[in-house]
Amino acid sequence: MAKRVVLAHSGGLDTSVAVRWLQEELGVEVIAVALDVGQGGDFALVRQRALAAGAVESVVVDARAEMAEDFVVPAIAANARYEGKYPLVSALSRPVIVRHLVAEARRHGADAVAHGCTAKGNDQVRFEVGTRTLAPDLEILAPARTWGMTREDSVEYAARHGIPIEATKEKLYSIDENLWGRAIECGALEDPWAPPPPDVFTLTRPTATEQRDLVLGFEAGVPVTVDGRPLGLPELIAEVGAVVGSYGWGRVDMVENRRVGIKSRETYECPAALAILLAHSDLEDLTLERDVAREKARLEPRWAELVYDGMWFSPLKEALDAFFTSTQRHVTGEVRLALSPGSCTVTGRRSPVSLYDHGLATYDAADTFDHGDAEGFVRLWGLSLATWAARQGAPPEPGRP
Ligand code: ARG
Repeated sequence: MAKRVVLAHSGGLDTSVAVRWLQEELGVEVIAVALDVGQGGDFALVRQRALAAGAVESVVVDARAEMAEDFVVPAIAANARYEGKYPLVSALSRPVIVRHLVAEARRHGADAVAHGCTAKGNDQVRFEVGTRTLAPDLEILAPARTWGMTREDSVEYAARHGIPIEATKEKLYSIDENLWGRAIECGALEDPWAPPPPDVFTLTRPTATEQRDLVLGFEAGVPVTVDGRPLGLPELIAEVGAVVGSYGWGRVDMVENRRVGIKSRETYECPAALAILLAHSDLEDLTLERDVAREKARLEPRWAELVYDGMWFSPLKEALDAFFTSTQRHVTGEVRLALSPGSCTVTGRRSPVSLYDHGLATYDAADTFDHGDAEGFVRLWGLSLATWAARQGAPPEPGRP
């Protein structure tokens, strides 16, 4: 039985209640670990809540740069969108948190880690599979999966134990946010037919009215400039999100398949992620050789599935990363996005290592393509079909005997 536990503490209702519950019910010492992954909020307050709930220590880690460099960069390289839509916002932050939980468990000589996830979601899968991979010896505790309290019970538990919480919004929706976007679940959103109430959105409130361009510059697959200005990745993501979001663009409303077999209606707003992925994959169209691009497109959904399913620390994911990294060497250049209310589209791309050859593509006098080459090429391309048609006959056309 564990004696000292490192708990992933967000400062929200469930994880604050978990601090006390773990102590009371399991008699363990709790070290609360909160990560800044770009969700905003007041970490002094998070710390205060952890200590008020009874944690022996509260650790706050600024993991924004780490999240951006080690987790978002590979996601951009993989053009990662789970089921073609969701840019893996929460799925990317869980392995960052796992890394720190394990590190803090080692530092504090803890024998278990704990999380506040429920039994129905993906996040429990990500925390536990990740932890077991990095630290198979650590026990894993999931109080919110076992305590059998409803949200009302938790609110009451908090009140009874003098645990400060702020439960108004939290009672309505389950929200998870980081620098790559924001996920909103529960409440009115559980009806897949009901349009999301406008008040659930904070990053994509439409305020801008004037159309404008935004030029994103990439170097080896990593976004590095906005309108020619170099920015560190966390700042760049924040800036792109603020601009694009102000056009009311960057929402995803979908029904997704959770790892545990449940279909779930999900609402996301990820203006930065969607704009950056749009620009990045467009730049790849200009700079990736055809066969590399096609093979890459086949592997991308697999990468997104692995990460969604909690397999960040897995040999297949690592091998796919090696492939994607190699493809990114020449993904350098700029993409122009045109923004207008409700819309973000690509209107141009350029690269010093572009594979677009104007001489080959043009229909005007600058043409360098050898037209004579085409004749023999096309004849050989169709040779096998021509032979088959002559010897075995073409298939009957529809409607003919
Ligand atoms: N459905 C998304 C995912 O599995 C979002 C989960 C958000 N988590 C939350 N506690 N609200 O990645």
